[in-house]
Order: sequence, then structure tokens, then C-alpha cells
Amino acid sequence: MKLIVAGATGFVGKELIRQAVSHPGVTSIVSLARRATPVPQDMAPGADLSKLKSVVCDNFEDYPESVKKELSGADACIWLIAVTPSKSWTIPWEQARKVCYDYTVKGLETIAQLPRDSCAARPLRFIYTSGAKAERDPSKKPWLLGDYSLMRGEAESIVLNYAKESKGAVEAAVAKPGLIDAPGKMSMAMNALATIGRSIIGIPKVDLSEVAATLIDQAINGIEKDTLLNDDLVRIGQKALAEQQKIQ
Ligand SMILES: NC(=O)c1ccc[n+]([C@@H]2O[C@H](COP(=O)([O-])OP(=O)(O)OC[C@H]3O[C@@H](n4cnc5c(N)ncnc54)[C@H](OP(=O)(O)O)[C@@H]3O)[C@@H](O)[C@H]2O)c1
Repeated sequence: MKLIVAGATGFVGKELIRQAVSHPGVTSIVSLARRATPVPQDMAPGADLSKLKSVVCDNFEDYPESVKKELSGADACIWLIAVTPSKSWTIPWEQARKVCYDYTVKGLETIAQLPRDSCAARPLRFIYTSGAKAERDPSKKPWLLGDYSLMRGEAESIVLNYAKESKGAVEAAVAKPGLIDAPGKMSMAMNALATIGRSIIGIPKVDLSEVAATLIDQAINGIEKDTLLNDDLVRIGQKALAEQQKIQ
């Protein structure tokens, strides 16, 4: 299957690419980002870098034809482009909203409309990665990062509605991880934020490898349910990783 990973240069994206290059169920990967995707580190046995094509896009609001050509014919897309809560303070609100919301909507619309000749009989699977605290109900605005949480929840809703109204052309899921833990791979600042998040805000935890394994599993094997909560990501991810270990 041909997989698009949008936001492949980020924290989750790099692990996802690392796992996908050794996954036998993935035959081709387009890593889409605003800069080239680095070659994965610590690859598992059987990794095949020839499956990976790094595609750089400099306009996520109006995709150049050259980029559209590379994205055509995909079976699934895992969407990871976002401004995370910790970075949302550092840029103007409108810019954060554009990256998190507008880019997601435009990306979904663009990819869903591209030719998929060899796989047109099956729906395009679009998996949007959001966060545990993103809130879809405007009347339940959280006390912390309220506008940000509602904006991410709005993006979740529009992705799921797009799929619902696509007459079977698109199948979507929203993944809602809590704090993503990666022992040894996180900076001191990230570790401090994770501790605060867990103890004060009560955010659940999931391992980076589990999140990536779940997203790949759902892209390949089908979407279990349209909203994947933190516990689902741990459960599906652990099972998928155990299966991968047996193969390797
Ligand atoms: N990390 C966590 O603990 C955590 C927890 C829960 C949910 N999540 C969610 O998981 C998803 C992935 O998170 P992550 O930790 O991998 O985030 P990340 O490391 O910040 O990566 C985000 C990706 O978005 C891209 N991006 C950011 N701003 C952009 C812009 N203006 N134009 C184009 N691309 C842009 C980044 O590109 P560059 O690499 O070029 O910056 C990168 O590819 C996000 O939706 C996040 O909210 C993360």
C-alpha cells in the first residue's frame, strides 16, 4: 500500500517513517513536509529505504502540481502537521490556526480529489492526529488552552464529517494521544512539560512507538473506530509492535 505521512519531519513523524520503512504491509511511503525528511535512525532489520520518497511542499494551501503528482494513488494518509500546544505560544494565533486547521482541511480535500486509479475501489483512509484534550463541543471549553483545544476539536469534527459525507470515498479516524513518551529521545524541557501535564492536568501517557505502530496499523488494516483514544493507541500499538517483532 502507498502511504502518505504528512508532517514526517516531526517527533511522531520520524518514528512513523522509521517503522514504516520496515513494515511489509507498506510498499511505498511519501513523506510530505515543508523540508526534506531525514533518513531514519536505528532502523529495524528488513528496512527498505527505497520505499521512501521525501516530498517537500512550500505551500500547504495551494499544492503545486508536482506535489499532487507524488501524492496521487495513495491508499492512506496519516496527518501529523500541526503546531503543538507547547509551540502554540510562540507564534501568532492566526498562524497556529492556519497550520492546525486550514492545512488539515486543504490537505484532506486535495488528497481525496487526486486520481487513485489502482485503488479507487477502496476508500482513502485519512488518519488525523489530534490530542487527548482537543474538545469538539464548544460549550465545554477547557480552562487551559481553551481556544487551542476547541480549534483542534473543530478540525477533528470537520475531518470526520468530510468522510461521512464523502459517499464512501474517504474513511477517517481521529487519534487522540495524551502525552507521548519517548524515553531517551526527549529534551529536558519536554520531560518537564510531560511531568507537569501528567500530574496537574491528568493527561494519559502513550509511548511514541505505540502511537506510530497504531497509526500504521489502522492505515494498513482498516480503521477500528473513528475516534482512537489514548487507551486504544496503547492497546492497538502494543499488539501491532508484538506482531512486528515476530516477523522481524
Ligand atoms: N508530541 C506529543 O507529546 C503529542 C501529544 C499529543 C498529540 N500530539 C499531536 O501529534 C501530532 C504530531 O505531533 P509532533 O509531536 O510530531 O509535532 P512536531 O514535532 O512539532 O511536528 C509537527 C509537524 O508539523 C510540521 N509543521 C509545523 N508547523 C508547520 C508549518 N508552519 N508549515 C508546515 N509544516 C509545519 C512540522 O514541520 P517541521 O519539522 O519543519 O517543523 C512537523 O513536520 C500533532 O497533531 C500533535 O498535536 C503530539
